[in-house]
Amino acid sequence: MSIRELAEVVEQGHVVVCCGSGGVGKTTSAAVLAMEGARRGRRALVVTIDPAKRLASALGLDELSNEPREIATDRWDPKGERRSGGALSAMMLDTKSTFDGLVTRYASSPEQTRRILENSFYRNISSALSGTQEYMAMEKLHELHEEGGFDLIVVDTPPSRHALDFLDAPQRLLRLLDNRIFRLLMVPTRTGLRIAGAAVQAFLRTISRVVGSEVVNDIVAFFRAFEGMEEGFRERAKKVVQLLGEPETRFVLITSPRRDAVEEARFFAEKIGDHHLAVDALIVNRVHPRFGTEHSSGLRARAQSLRDLRVGKEAVEARERLAARYENLADFNEIAELERSHLETVRVRVGSAAIAYVPYLAHDVYDFDALAAVGQLLFSSAGDPGPLEAGADE
Ligand SMILES: Nc1ncnc2c1ncn2[C@@H]1O[C@H](COP(=O)(O)OP(=O)(O)O)[C@@H](O)[C@H]1O
Ligand SMILES: [Mg+2]
Repeated sequence: MSIRELAEVVEQGHVVVCCGSGGVGKTTSAAVLAMEGARRGRRALVVTIDPAKRLASALGLDELSNEPREIATDRWDPKGERRSGGALSAMMLDTKSTFDGLVTRYASSPEQTRRILENSFYRNISSALSGTQEYMAMEKLHELHEEGGFDLIVVDTPPSRHALDFLDAPQRLLRLLDNRIFRLLMVPTRTGLRIAGAAVQAFLRTISRVVGSEVVNDIVAFFRAFEGMEEGFRERAKKVVQLLGEPETRFVLITSPRRDAVEEARFFAEKIGDHHLAVDALIVNRVHPRFGTEHSSGLRARAQSLRDLRVGKEAVEARERLAARYENLADFNEIAELERSHLETVRVRVGSAAIAYVPYLAHDVYDFDALAAVGQLLFSSAGDPGPLEAGADE
């Protein structure tokens, strides 16, 4: 059942947002989903944030360009199996140049653009302010959507500590623009209100004593340089939020079956729900397989009864070796069972979402062959670790 649904994500989705905590396989999954979309005949783009070096290199992202680049079909589809029309592009998000682009778009003159881009406070926040990367990922997504060159845009999200910062980021930008200090700083140049101006001057003098007047001057210049641009930014942020709520937008939550990752995934699922959005698919990456159907406790009991077995001297070593293997198997299945019981908590949170599994692989996933192999596992039942209930009824 869930297999068809994950296919639905790459066949019908227009924007696919991959979220999850750092290190679970978000970037890998985003690349796999885009490639699968392309194989199924879509003009697909993966927007990566922090691809591992070798993956970036495979995707042709050795230099940061902030613009999509098409990948030659013979690289990702050497056997020519794709459905007609399928194309795959990739890009790596460059937070700073996305922010610069946004400033350029909304500034009223080249002079205003220049004043902002050259401001050292801006230069700091445009890459370092918390939430900026999240917001720019969404901003870039919106831009790509507006330009209209792709049927399927799969976005990776930053490895943010703060779960789902990217959902809050547009709101946060709006809050910054609504901020009292921001408004006060805008007042003097806007209406020439001397009283507010004087109060602000006093406030700034106090701050200057702490952080130094140069910093304050930069900040004031920064906010003043933004004058008249808030409306544009505000509109833009609203549109980004709207895009996330569109019927063709899909949310894919990626997790590993470890307890901490699952906890975070559950939190993500709740947050997505808080934004009146839904998780469309759950990818569980790096799952340990279960060997056979026997429960670890049964395997452990077998090991014990073997040890209790009386055998002739010549068979003692063989008996021990066999008992040890049973114990190994019990250990392994115990991990698999634990993983499955951890997964239960997130499974109930994602409701009717598609669930797909990728086993713990022996190698990193960094070239098209490996991406295709993961796709094969995700889009067939091959990666399915079998019934999850085994761990749950403990
Ligand atoms: N199922 C897997 N088995 C083994 N290695 C994996 C698997 N999935 C991802 N990896 C590797 O783990 C590392 C982290 O994956 P990545 O997709 O970059 O995670 P994230 O984007 O969530 O931080 C990469 O080197 C990737 O190749
Ligand atoms: Mg990543």
